[in-house]
Amino acid sequence: MAFTQSWIDELLAKNDIVSVVSGYVSLKPKGRRLWGLCPIHGEKTASFSVSPDKQMFYCFGCHAGGTAIQFIMQMERLTFPEAVRFLAERAGMTVPEDRDDEQYQQERARKERLYQACNLAARFYMENLIGANGGPAREYFARRNIGSSAVKRFGLGYAPEGWDNLKNHLTAQGFTEDELLDAGLLVRNPNSGRIYDAYRNRVIFPIIGVNGRVIGFGARVMNQEDKPKYINTGDTPIYNKRRNLYGLNLQKSTRLSSLIMVEGYTDVIGMYNAGIENVVASLGTALTEEQARLLTRYVSSVFIAYDGDAAGQNATLRGLDILQKEGLDVRVIVFPDNLDPDEYCRKYGKEGIDALIDAAISLNSFKLICLKRGFDLSKDHDREKYAMDACRMIARMEPVQQEACIAQVSKETGLSVASLEAQIGRDQKRETVSEQNARRRAGASSGRDALKDVNSARNIAEGMIVSCMARSAEAVKYVRENQILDSVRNTVYKDFGLKLAASEDPEKEIHSIVGTMEEGPASLISSLLNKDTQYGSPVQMIDDCVERIRKIERDELIDSLGRQLAAPGLSPENRKDILMRIQELNRQKNANN
Ligand code: UTP
Ligand code: MN
Repeated sequence: MAFTQSWIDELLAKNDIVSVVSGYVSLKPKGRRLWGLCPIHGEKTASFSVSPDKQMFYCFGCHAGGTAIQFIMQMERLTFPEAVRFLAERAGMTVPEDRDDEQYQQERARKERLYQACNLAARFYMENLIGANGGPAREYFARRNIGSSAVKRFGLGYAPEGWDNLKNHLTAQGFTEDELLDAGLLVRNPNSGRIYDAYRNRVIFPIIGVNGRVIGFGARVMNQEDKPKYINTGDTPIYNKRRNLYGLNLQKSTRLSSLIMVEGYTDVIGMYNAGIENVVASLGTALTEEQARLLTRYVSSVFIAYDGDAAGQNATLRGLDILQKEGLDVRVIVFPDNLDPDEYCRKYGKEGIDALIDAAISLNSFKLICLKRGFDLSKDHDREKYAMDACRMIARMEPVQQEACIAQVSKETGLSVASLEAQIGRDQKRETVSEQNARRRAGASSGRDALKDVNSARNIAEGMIVSCMARSAEAVKYVRENQILDSVRNTVYKDFGLKLAASEDPEKEIHSIVGTMEEGPASLISSLLNKDTQYGSPVQMIDDCVERIRKIERDELIDSLGRQLAAPGLSPENRKDILMRIQELNRQKNANN
């Protein structure tokens, strides 16, 4: 998929990098750049910088860099064309090929219909809650202390008894059964083929996306006996439960320091009733990477407030690991007596919850607590097994997190800190070997030659050449006239150099050239442009680099001729010829040095 350079330029002009980045990182000005904590590699001191003049970002820690496009690719885990679309949507631009891509247009129009259907359905459910037949639902909410303020804020509703209330309501407004099935509002009985309302005689919790549009529903029974307790919209063209969190739409405009993650719809609402608004729900499923990324857009710190029994389950713990891996600071709120957040709020109010938040524990010590549950520490054998498992867990933690956990395990098992540390040391060694193997495998499969060995002498010299070009129009001219790029082998550098050489105003166009690059190459070029090398005369510098490359090539040639000499079956004439060439090259080499 090719976008024209001028269109990409317009896209970048309409997506100021400072405002794009500020959606993810808070930036502070210092010198000619803005600085913040790198959202890509996660860190404690700010080495991530944005340069408003150049409209580029660069992290001095992980060397990621580029324009707003590469930034979005990294943050949203998107491909280049996807990131372009993302920014186009952000700036209200139409992607050129979409204008005449019929299939894409049709899909969009179809989605738009589904959004409208869900929106009208939510309104229908709400009207039913307020209306003449809403008595049972109103009573249900009242029993749970869910009042009109919560009803309004969360758009709650009621799906009345009957098979086709919503179906009739929406087909009368021109929606087809197919559309309503697609939106998850109707279902088809696989045996009879009959099509009817998905939610009947249930209270309704609309799920609203961060774009503010209704995308799905949770529907709860009003009697304990009825099953299942909740019916939720499955995945549809507009709703993917892996990518959404209940209540996140309400967090948009506030500047948050942390979010509290609960399990259920009613937990979010119960906390709201108690005066705590920074709450979202994962809706009973294990957290996904997409959800974690979504959270990083809002906060750097997350409290987990899951129901007592559920939080310790393995699927949940894996979900919490995902949060941590995305760089979020994760703490766990432990609820006593198997209460869920909603029940706890009703019983102990805001002060109660605030006290629990203050007492939240680190994810690591929470994991140790969960691990311990499986053992009877009054037995020798269990104590030893627990200590072994715990040490393996601690070995994977950051060093600063280890100390407290070692102390905890030592206290629990009576084993000395020293012997635990020795055990952890051994586990760590094992870990590193397997990590190294993993890295080797990954390296072998993703071999992009241009990105490898960037610190080889040759790559450094080649990089310097294009770096000089990026800084000086005179250098560009010099390179062009002397065809110096013929000596550049690294395809990323060469490509960048050729574009600079072809450009009318190289310095101005750097940013738009980098704008069309993939993530890896863009980072490589950014790291080059951000190196603090002292430049003398760029032309002089380029000459030096070319000279260095010549020498490297000469040494390579000497090596390769040496290998030819060792080859079996070489004729005496060839041998003599090769020897003479080697001698000549060595003579040149010595004369130069
Ligand atoms: P819970 O069983 O903890 O329900 O499930 P809850 O949120 O506390 O609801 P109340 O207080 O009993 O009304 C937590 C979440 O798991 C999902 C729902 O998203 C629910 O909010 N769930 C639970 C289902 O999807 N289906 C079910 O049958 C049960
Ligand atoms: Mn509950």
